[in-house]
Amino acid sequence: MSLWAGRFKEEMHPLVKEFTYSAAIDKKLYKFDIEGSIAHVQMLAKCGIIANEDSERLVSSLKKIQEDIEKGKIDFSGKEDVHMAIEEELIKREGKIGEKIHTARSRNDQVALDEKLYIREEINKILSLIDDFQKVLIKISEANKDVVLPGYTHLQYAQPISVAQYLLAYFWMLQRDKERLKDCYKRVNICPLGVAAIAGTSLPIDREYTAKLLDFSGITENSVDTVSDRDYIIEFLNFASIMMMHLSRLSEDIVLWSSPCFNFIEIRDSFATGSSIMPQKKNPDVAELVRGKTGKVYGALISLLVTMKGLPLSYNRDMQEDKLPLFQSVEEIKICLRVLTKLLENIKINAEKMRKEAEKGFFAATDLVEYLVKKGVTFRSAHRTVGQIVSYCIEKGKTFSNLTLQEYRNFSPFFEPDIRKKINLDFCVKNKESKGGTGTKSLEYQIKLAKKYLETQNE
Ligand code: ARG
Repeated sequence: MSLWAGRFKEEMHPLVKEFTYSAAIDKKLYKFDIEGSIAHVQMLAKCGIIANEDSERLVSSLKKIQEDIEKGKIDFSGKEDVHMAIEEELIKREGKIGEKIHTARSRNDQVALDEKLYIREEINKILSLIDDFQKVLIKISEANKDVVLPGYTHLQYAQPISVAQYLLAYFWMLQRDKERLKDCYKRVNICPLGVAAIAGTSLPIDREYTAKLLDFSGITENSVDTVSDRDYIIEFLNFASIMMMHLSRLSEDIVLWSSPCFNFIEIRDSFATGSSIMPQKKNPDVAELVRGKTGKVYGALISLLVTMKGLPLSYNRDMQEDKLPLFQSVEEIKICLRVLTKLLENIKINAEKMRKEAEKGFFAATDLVEYLVKKGVTFRSAHRTVGQIVSYCIEKGKTFSNLTLQEYRNFSPFFEPDIRKKINLDFCVKNKESKGGTGTKSLEYQIKLAKKYLETQNE
């Protein structure tokens, strides 16, 4: 018999059970359900709604139930959801006293509480995984400051940059991801418990007390909003989607760069995969799967947005469908962060090949323009002149470095012998000292700042 059997004259049809029951999925929340229940009964006792002895008994029984769940002694099959399963177990063990636990509470506020406790814990784990990732990015950046990479725009040779400048781009992306996640945490960390089904309760509860016991920073202000709200999951999945987009772009570069067409990097055997038919193959499956799983996380975000958009206030059972996408996204982003961090550490950078490619494609064209600008030529005119030089080189099969000074001067009288060293590859990377640029000092400053962010953010 179900806990609500009073109003019903028939048992639930097995098909309806099969269709509506969610314990197989939401049992993952058992620990948080029990933590919330313990705080709830302690609050009920403090407010004189249940006796202290009852509260003590319920608390110890709930703890015992948790141990038994962890020992695999409690069967969730055939239970409607995690909340009902635990309440039923408590009533089985404590009889009438157990029947008091759901006083001034509904599953509508209870499920929101469980989810918030779960997300809160996961946010802390994810923040530390992002930190680990950022540390590796800094480490590899520092070790490769002098390695020159052909920077691309439109996947065409653009300007040479330091490999560190490239890698640190991801540091800052992840930094923003962390900021988004911390911001999301602020709203996750507001306690929904005690709004009951939709209206609040006439019993003299103390919601602030429960919130304090559970270490929340405050309580929600409107009972209808509280049981209708899944913003905190949508915000989390929004963070997750954006972060996965970042990881996916890095993965894409790893896929491209490890291909023989680029040959910029080599993935260690232990982090690569082979082919079942082509013996020569070495594939970047780890990066491909991170890229692939990104779609799944976007799917989770879209799925919940669509689930919520047409729901009348307040709680609707549709909202039960929030859990699988949430749980799956949390697991996917954690493993993606972990595996990508390790993958980065297991990549060999082929500096020679990068340099060879960086030398191609008139990499110093913009530097030639800036050379003329420094001599007083207007930017547009300098741009035109260098464009003509490039076109001349293509025609004659020449490069900037094998043009004679006279040839340069045929295009502009401002060219002087010092032009030679201005078109040196390393020089072109190291002299971009504007803030945020790939220049030597600029890059050093950036690394210092990145390290400072990592040290101070967790205070
Ligand atoms: N299993 C439900 C869910 O996840 C719990 C809340 C159910 N509330 C209700 N009134 N049926 O959303």
